[in-house]
Amino acid sequence: MEQLTGRNLNICIFISGRGSNLLSLIKYSKIKKSKIKINLVISNNKFSKGLEFAKKNKIKYHVINYSKKKQAELKILRYLIKNKVDLICLAGFMKILSSDFIRKFKKPILNIHPSLLPKYKGLNTHRRVIKNKDKFTGATVHLVTPKLDSGKIILQKKVRILKSDTEQTLAKKVLKIEHKLYPAAIEKFLKKSSL
Ligand code: GAR
Repeated sequence: MEQLTGRNLNICIFISGRGSNLLSLIKYSKIKKSKIKINLVISNNKFSKGLEFAKKNKIKYHVINYSKKKQAELKILRYLIKNKVDLICLAGFMKILSSDFIRKFKKPILNIHPSLLPKYKGLNTHRRVIKNKDKFTGATVHLVTPKLDSGKIILQKKVRILKSDTEQTLAKKVLKIEHKLYPAAIEKFLKKSSL
């Protein structure tokens, strides 16, 4: 892997919707000591609100039509190479990357998931923790592997579940901690990796 000495680390963020994690990462990238540069945003959804954050911050973005997954992924790979992307961060990206894509990209891919993995992989995490009467939930940043939500955990943060919590209040609380967790996890990951 190419060693990065003189330049910032190029990060591509993948989104599908609201993009609040994208916004928190953009803010983090602007901090003086941050070594990262968000130089590309990919969305599978042209109506993603997050695209507005890319536009406002003059970050290049591409909307990818996912009706044919194989073609979509090949197109994305071309953009990643063209823009010298060193790291992908999935931030509310609701498509599953194929093992072929992960292998061909060759560089790390991180994801943020709204549960304390390995508990509650997949969708509707808040609904399931409430149904199971759990006392805690939280968020996890992990490495992406071909197995859904199962790669090495980089960082997690817990949130206490109150009796009065609903799926909606919990989603709000967890999202709030995600905005701090993702930048912290990237920092931690970069310290330990050869990037
Ligand atoms: C976040 O809560 C993120 O953890 C979740 O989608 C939300 C995206 O919010 N991701 C997943 O569920 C992935 N399986 P955002 O678009 O405001 O960042």
